[in-house]
Amino acid sequence: MSALFQPFSLKDVTLRNRIAVPPMCQYSANDGLISDWHQIHYASLARGGAGLVIVEATAVAPEGRITPACAGIWSDEQAQAFVPVVRAIKAGGAVPGIQIAHAGRKASANRPWEGDDHIAAADPRGWQPLGPSPVAFGAHLARTPQEMSVDDIARVRDDFVAAALRAREAGFEWLELHFAHGYLAQSFFSPHANQRTDQYGGSYENRSRFIHETFAAVREVWPAHLPLTIRFGVIEFDGEDETTLSESIDLTRRLKADGLDMISVSIGFNTPAARIPWAPGFMGPIAERVRREVDIPVSSAWGFGEAKIAEHAVASGQLDLVMVGKAHLANPHWSYQVARELQIERPSWTLPAPYAHWLERY
Ligand SMILES: Cc1cc2nc3c(=O)[nH]c(=O)nc-3n(C[C@H](O)[C@H](O)[C@H](O)COP(=O)(O)O)c2cc1C
Repeated sequence: MSALFQPFSLKDVTLRNRIAVPPMCQYSANDGLISDWHQIHYASLARGGAGLVIVEATAVAPEGRITPACAGIWSDEQAQAFVPVVRAIKAGGAVPGIQIAHAGRKASANRPWEGDDHIAAADPRGWQPLGPSPVAFGAHLARTPQEMSVDDIARVRDDFVAAALRAREAGFEWLELHFAHGYLAQSFFSPHANQRTDQYGGSYENRSRFIHETFAAVREVWPAHLPLTIRFGVIEFDGEDETTLSESIDLTRRLKADGLDMISVSIGFNTPAARIPWAPGFMGPIAERVRREVDIPVSSAWGFGEAKIAEHAVASGQLDLVMVGKAHLANPHWSYQVARELQIERPSWTLPAPYAHWLERY
């Protein structure tokens, strides 16, 4: 029996299987407003069979976009544009999730296929990025962020809260806070980016404060019966890994006590000097450690997009949910394909009739 195709329940939400589409920016919005592209993209992902589809990093404030073409949810108009996306994901049989985000010092960049680097300071398409300290990421993202004041910090926390409320109004049933990948929240946690000497920097306790306060504020407004999750980079691969991992595990424990339902275990991406040991499913053992030591459901991504690897990750107890990204871009019906490979008998969640009628006899 396949572990990957067992349902998964968290709070009042049940996923039809253990496969999730992780957030993947489409860089196809206009002033934060999603476009026709998003409607088609998310509808096709949901109908392909995944249990959960998490909409891409969606900025809580204009300056929190990675690029000028990133999606936003700082206005009601932007939030309402997600209503048909939510409807399409549910019609496809998946649970609609969204990741809300602030890009911090990595904001104001060109799209990946247009350079992936910071937009030049003089270019009117860009804006001044914010960060915990005036320290640039480096490499292709060389622009120095403006150090955030305590008022700026409170404002962004409130932006997360307003975004969470709007996401709920749009119908999302699963909320992920983007606390990973070197974006704002993660950069507060990291000594690579945070050199503050006030209550938001220095000690582990202080470096976690932005994450802790933002999480707690969102928890107050996000419905208790729906999953509230984070994506968090628990490791940098910068030579300080045991320290970062133990601090991350401790913080995850504290967030769990404050109502965190699940963590998507990811990478810090706070320094271009990191040496990441890319390999299929390489985050599995790290996620398993977080799962065991915190006693919380976990998911992870990065190279799980093959039937055997995904099945093993769930069957061996590394992951509760497998995030499969690029393989879903290559084939939105990836879950259906994997069910065939694993010889799942007529899954109840098979493709919609106009496709299934012709393909089901496998
Ligand atoms: C086009 C693209 C956009 C992405 N955008 C996001 C994002 O919005 N938020 C996020 O947390 N990760 C983002 N990621 C990372 C993915 O969620 C995922 O971790 C990554 O693709 C590795 O999984 P995979 O090997 O299955 O593709 C993105 C990845 C891709 C390929």
